Amino acid sequence: MDFDVAYEGKAKQLILLEDDRDHYVQRFKDDATAFNGEKFAQFEGKGALNNAISSFLFEKLEEAGVLTHYIERRTETDMLIRKLEIVPLEVVVRNHVAGSLGRRTGLKEGSKVDPPIVETYYKKDELGDPILADVHIKMLDIVDDEELDQIKQAALRVNDVLQPIFEKAGIRLVDFKLEFGVDSAGAIILGDEISPDTSRLWDIESGDSLDKDVFRYDKGELIEAYEEVAERLGVEV
Ligand code: TMP
Repeated sequence: MDFDVAYEGKAKQLILLEDDRDHYVQRFKDDATAFNGEKFAQFEGKGALNNAISSFLFEKLEEAGVLTHYIERRTETDMLIRKLEIVPLEVVVRNHVAGSLGRRTGLKEGSKVDPPIVETYYKKDELGDPILADVHIKMLDIVDDEELDQIKQAALRVNDVLQPIFEKAGIRLVDFKLEFGVDSAGAIILGDEISPDTSRLWDIESGDSLDKDVFRYDKGELIEAYEEVAERLGVEV
């Protein structure tokens, strides 16, 4: 079968299937970028780890009744997904203060965000993915009020499902980024990935980062951290 790359992202590819226009293969790359592509490196095995972890978490979400684009894990680095029209928003859920929330508010790193909050960023590399208020989302006609509400509710539901899974593994789910899409029937569906590339995961005991901050801020060995996450979740890579 012939493969055509329909979309090349920084850490993933979407591959067109010649005989099936309703699905894509989502391939996880070993490439890592940070700070809007300013920092770049490759880590052998990262793609396989993220595919395994993301597949596991999507399966848990599906079991809990959350609609996702995930169909199945195909190979070490590939998963089969439903084709969606991606909403150009990065939807961030925060349970604790870290990263840009600390910089924006001055709140202490690690302090609890209670209740959790959902933020929206414009998925536009050339603008550096700026934060958007609801009025901007409406003005830009990205989604309507009802869809935005559905996206925020779904993001909080994802948090409710994932938090206890990580907690049982001794991991604090500090924050994470989601992307949603619309299917051919107009339904809002969770897309993209959920992995240590797109979340902050702290060891509950030590507070050590087990996520891409290890690479962003040179905190240690990225593959070791991601392997630790997979092992603690009981994910076979
Ligand atoms: P932030 O604190 O830098 O805004 O990041 C919030 C969360 O979103 C964190 O878990 C990392 C994730 N994230 C991405 O997945 N992609 C991005 O481009 C950025 C900036 C953050």
